Amino acid sequence: MLSAVERKIEQFIADLDDKEVAAQYGKLPQGKRLRAKLILKIAGNRLSVVKTAAIVEMIHAASLLHDDVIDDAYTRRNKPSLNALYGNKTAIMFGDVLYSKGFLELNNISSEVAKIVSGAVVKLSLGELKDVSLSKTFNLNKEIYLEMIYQKTASLMEASAGAAAVLAGKPKEAYLVYGRNLGLAFQMIDDLLDITSDSETLGKPALHDFAEGKTTLPYIYLYEVLNSEDQKKLASLHAKELSREEQAWIMQNMEEHQILLKCYAQAKELIDEAVELMNEKGEEALSSIAEEMIDRNF
Ligand code: IPE
Ligand code: IPE
Ligand code: MG
Ligand code: MG
Ligand code: MG
Repeated sequence: MLSAVERKIEQFIADLDDKEVAAQYGKLPQGKRLRAKLILKIAGNRLSVVKTAAIVEMIHAASLLHDDVIDDAYTRRNKPSLNALYGNKTAIMFGDVLYSKGFLELNNISSEVAKIVSGAVVKLSLGELKDVSLSKTFNLNKEIYLEMIYQKTASLMEASAGAAAVLAGKPKEAYLVYGRNLGLAFQMIDDLLDITSDSETLGKPALHDFAEGKTTLPYIYLYEVLNSEDQKKLASLHAKELSREEQAWIMQNMEEHQILLKCYAQAKELIDEAVELMNEKGEEALSSIAEEMIDRNF
């Protein structure tokens, strides 16, 4: 039923009756549609559910349009990013069009769903702001990192699952926890893949986070286990374009100290907790989507 979501997004874009926006939308590849899948899995495929899934994917796409401007990223979903094609100004305004059309359409769902989803977008924006300000320093505080990834990524997955539960007439609490865990694990894996994968597989720049100033979980854990001389060396490489040798030094230390395994295990723990919670509710079908969040290579 994902195709129904696709048609709905196309219809929302067509409603705008704007040739430029239609052309820009044409340059926006689809993505994995994980948030839409999550919503449909929980709530089925009634029209209000399909509309909510379409709205969430438009909002998510808007956040990526802005994110690629913020992160100076020129590829997305294996294609040139919109900022690469049209410049930052257009990417930002097209993002605003997708956000605001999403909010407009939310009014036609229900006030509870509207509140859940728009509340998450406030958090997402606060999280992106925090990500930017944290990247100006060499952040080594794990709690701050976890709070930031909750806001920028997990909040929208939490809201997707919670809103879907509301649409399905189920008590939302357990679904909110499920979505939150999925979102946290998802961003942890995203941060791991930045280190372990290549740009072609990812469809977006690889080994980009540290150069952009982002001390994601693997860098925080690596710093914790290095001796003081190597700690100084790692800190000196922060927020710089790295040479091949410097990249290799980081990778070798990540491997030697089994940092990537440690981060993966932490993400897996969150997923297992989420799956268990859903199994208790008799929602076994939600396990596979949870696994998909972490066992992925892009
Ligand atoms: C990318 O999300 C942004 C993060 C939260 C890491 P996705 O990996 O779900 O992006 P698409 O929609 O599939 O491209
Ligand atoms: C997540 O952070 C982006 C949003 C929540 C909008 P990233 O900056 O890590 O996402 P990618 O890696 O560019 O997809
Ligand atoms: Mg980014
Ligand atoms: Mg970012
Ligand atoms: Mg990333």
